[in-house]
Amino acid sequence: MKIVIQKTYEEMSEAAFEMMRELVTRNPAAVLGLATGTTPLGLYERMVKDHRERGTSYKNIRTVNLDEYVGLGPESDQSYIYFMRKNLFDRLDIPRENTNLPNGLAENLERECERYNRLLAGMQQDIQVLGIGSNGHIAFNEPGTPFGAETHVVALAESTIRDNARLFAREEDVPRKALTMGLKNIMHAKQILILANGANKAHAVRGLVCGPVTEQLPASVLQLHPDCTLIVDEAAASLL
Ligand code: GLP
Repeated sequence: MKIVIQKTYEEMSEAAFEMMRELVTRNPAAVLGLATGTTPLGLYERMVKDHRERGTSYKNIRTVNLDEYVGLGPESDQSYIYFMRKNLFDRLDIPRENTNLPNGLAENLERECERYNRLLAGMQQDIQVLGIGSNGHIAFNEPGTPFGAETHVVALAESTIRDNARLFAREEDVPRKALTMGLKNIMHAKQILILANGANKAHAVRGLVCGPVTEQLPASVLQLHPDCTLIVDEAAASLL
């Protein structure tokens, strides 16, 4: 794993953006695996600015996102599809039909997982962007998830519900279930870019880099990926 430690969140985001711009320039029809959460917002802001100011085009780019809450759709401002449209897709020239997320409103969730797995099988991510949960989860693969899992329905861990409650009016409003790419779908990406900032991620980052490869800390599986880059700020790197 390549590890890049930057002083601040802004520098972490800048370094991530440099990798993304290099890929999109080299391959304007790349498949981007994208993540939600507050961590990648600085990266997305830079992609939008670069598109506006330098004309980098996303019209032939395709995207696949990691996860979505069950029961939330594009009309809900807490859904991941809403987040992606607001913070990135609607601010680039990417056609909406090129963007993909699991559908949290699907009537049959098992069938929706199968649809997403088929889609992913046909579009390998040239890069997969990841954040990390404070308990070491990636996407919504909570501790204990088998490394071989593909897209599945997950019951969120109590710690994840608490962490994510800050983005909802009340903790009760956080959906208890989600659809998530599995670790196998994530590991299938040609290249992985994982970002972390802030002291509350330091423990998970330590497990990701130095811990045993264990299903108890899902991100540790990335130690087995042949092309994984971790970019962190100093606070998140403080236990390394
Ligand atoms: C959620 C998402 C993850 C994300 C994590 C960290 O649980 N499913 O993909 O990495 O939160 O979020 P943040 O970047 O806001 O700390």
